Amino acid sequence: MGFKVYNLCLFFLFCQQALVAVSKHHNVTLLRGKKEVSWCNLFIGSWVIDPSYPLYDSASCPFIDAEFDCQKFGRPDKQYLKYSWKPDSCALPRFDGVDFLNRWRGKKIMFVGDSLSLNMWESLSCMIHASVPNANTSYFRRESISTVMFQDYGVTIQLYRTPYLVDIVHENVGRVLNLDSIEAGNAWIGSDMLIFNSWHWWTHTGNSQGWDFIRDGPNLLKDTDRLGAFYKGLTTWARWVDLNVDPTKTKVFFQGISPTHYQGQEWNQPRKSCSGELEPLSGSSYPAGLPPAATIVNKVLKNMKNPVYLLDITLLSQLRKDAHPSVYSGDHAGNDCSHWCLPGLPDTWNQLLNAALTM
Ligand SMILES: *[C@@H]1O[C@H](CO)[C@@H](O)[C@H](O)[C@H]1NC(C)=O
Ligand SMILES: *[C@@H]1O[C@H](CO)[C@@H](O)[C@H](O)[C@H]1NC(C)=O
Repeated sequence: MGFKVYNLCLFFLFCQQALVAVSKHHNVTLLRGKKEVSWCNLFIGSWVIDPSYPLYDSASCPFIDAEFDCQKFGRPDKQYLKYSWKPDSCALPRFDGVDFLNRWRGKKIMFVGDSLSLNMWESLSCMIHASVPNANTSYFRRESISTVMFQDYGVTIQLYRTPYLVDIVHENVGRVLNLDSIEAGNAWIGSDMLIFNSWHWWTHTGNSQGWDFIRDGPNLLKDTDRLGAFYKGLTTWARWVDLNVDPTKTKVFFQGISPTHYQGQEWNQPRKSCSGELEPLSGSSYPAGLPPAATIVNKVLKNMKNPVYLLDITLLSQLRKDAHPSVYSGDHAGNDCSHWCLPGLPDTWNQLLNAALTM
């Protein structure tokens, strides 16, 4: 009985009402997290070698930026391309680009966030392209919105760049990070699927800080606790989703916190960073535990009215200290232990997105 209702809910993914009704009769914990409802938690597992990987060749994908194209920019090792994520209690469905295009025919998908969204957007576009290499596509890069369109299917996959999700407003005093407003959100309405992400820019200081002041209610601040600001900004985003997204029309995902690997002490190798790392951590745990930002994400999502599916990629990505561009980036000077090579880890994020939509 209960099982049937679960399956129905998995099919619709976002049928919170039905789940709440079920919970009166069954012990269903963590309903709002969604992933727990499934018979398989996709995000608990380990990395295994799979000779059939990678899912595409970077040289034949027209959508990869130099900053992620590690093979082109001299990365000598290849084993990092061969890992596939194996959830403990089920198999991750293999990605089929044609099937994906048919299911999303005539629809619009939008990634919203920072360069980790860019990483995931390019990955999905390449994964689909590998299945339909001769399909007619159009491709535009713009300051705020970039688009890949698979014209024969009418499928549009967009990237909206807004690293904080909340607005940066240009005022007389300079750039103001406004914790209470999301004017930019008007451009997201009407998408059939939205995949949000934010965190890394909240930590930036000095030249890479994206604002001069923070507006928090009536206060204009020179600086503040970054995690606390992230909590407020993400709460504004959650309110925006609750007010503006119709869950019967739009599926909403949060991409989860993507970890960095600059600090080897996090995995008990204090002298190391991602540089020169050739293998993932084995097993299913990360010595440093979850970053505090992931706790903030959980807390905000739990209090939302509209269901948002958390792509809980933090732990599985923490294990992939080997998957960053490090010095083999065609764009970033120095050691990039923040973004991810393509092909590579973001392909798994997209397989998980696809699994969440189909399982
Ligand atoms: C439901 O299950 C969880 C985990 O098994 C347990 O901790 C909790 O006490 C249970 N709640 C009820 C109301 O039975
Ligand atoms: C691409 O578009 C052209 C012109 O509309 C069409 O003839 C062709 O079949 C399309 N290619 C594919 C692979 O669908």
